[in-house]
Amino acid sequence: MFNPFMLVPCLICLYDILSMIFPLRFSWPLKTLLILLILSGIAKMFLLRMTPSGFSILELPRNLALFLSAMFSMMITAAILLIMKDIVQVFWRLFLHAKFPAHYASLTVLVLAAVSTVYGVYQGTRVPGVIRHDVKIPGLAKSFDGLRVAMIVDIHVGSVNRRPFVESVVEKVNALSPDVILIPGDFVDGHVKDRKFDLEPLADLRAKFGVLAVTGNHEYYYDLQGWLETLKGFGIKFLNNEHATITSGDSQLVIAGSLDPTSGNHDTARALQNAPANVPVILMDHQPKFANGNAKLGASLQLSGHTHGGQIPVVYEITRKLNGGFVRGWYDVDGMKLYVSPGTSQWDGFPMRLFDPSEISLFTLHAE
Ligand SMILES: [Fe+2]
Repeated sequence: MFNPFMLVPCLICLYDILSMIFPLRFSWPLKTLLILLILSGIAKMFLLRMTPSGFSILELPRNLALFLSAMFSMMITAAILLIMKDIVQVFWRLFLHAKFPAHYASLTVLVLAAVSTVYGVYQGTRVPGVIRHDVKIPGLAKSFDGLRVAMIVDIHVGSVNRRPFVESVVEKVNALSPDVILIPGDFVDGHVKDRKFDLEPLADLRAKFGVLAVTGNHEYYYDLQGWLETLKGFGIKFLNNEHATITSGDSQLVIAGSLDPTSGNHDTARALQNAPANVPVILMDHQPKFANGNAKLGASLQLSGHTHGGQIPVVYEITRKLNGGFVRGWYDVDGMKLYVSPGTSQWDGFPMRLFDPSEISLFTLHAE
């Protein structure tokens, strides 16, 4: 049965073939090879199926999955470059009244797309570095001054990111000696039976005040309840429109979490119900687009992911429009600080990043 999600990728694939491969003055055997490579970019999509319990995907060897995802990334990158090439072609014909050098233009796109993809997939699949942030929190008690909050988000464990990646991330996070570890969503792309082994190293995360999390949209695509129970078994506490209060002497700090809107029940007000008064609130909300409402509810600092920082130029702009203008980095939203992480990784169907490195974040909180 034809998957409706396939229509757009199929059209992009067709555009790549017609606008990039056909104009090349290569031999047909070579062109056929290039067409097959571009077609392999949509092969993985044909393995994705909707089932009553969410998406289902055929388990693939890691290197094959990585190759197919890289080809999908190249297919998208080439299409973006081809749009630019075809705009230039229109102006060339209109104003220069000369024959457009179609072969060289298509060859340039092919080379640029291939080089960008190789570099971008390397960037997208490496274990990220640690980015440190010093954050002033109004009203933070002196006893919490210097509190170290580590955040990983959008790990997207799946056919590309497997156990060795998670082990390396956990090792880096523990080496920071964090006081608390926050994971605001998108742990996994896959079912518990396939991916539990890969996520197991999360059980080794260590922090004085524990590991707290909220759901991301991807948790809802695969056996949500199964994952919540499994991750709870790894020592991760989910804040489902709830908050936790951490204490140091007589002082308190609230850490709250909103359910991802995919649940149909995103409710920050409920998460903050009965929270102690005049105590700063750190809020985890997977998607940054609710920042304006969250600021009105009194959060001091919102930590989000979801956007993956846009991953590549052009997609950055689309991501910005879809997420209330928030893509990556720091924002001041009506006095509330919002940090949108570019993610510790990204969806394994498009494992490519240009000018947008992934990160493990470490926030050191300071009293203001
Ligand atoms: Fe994500």
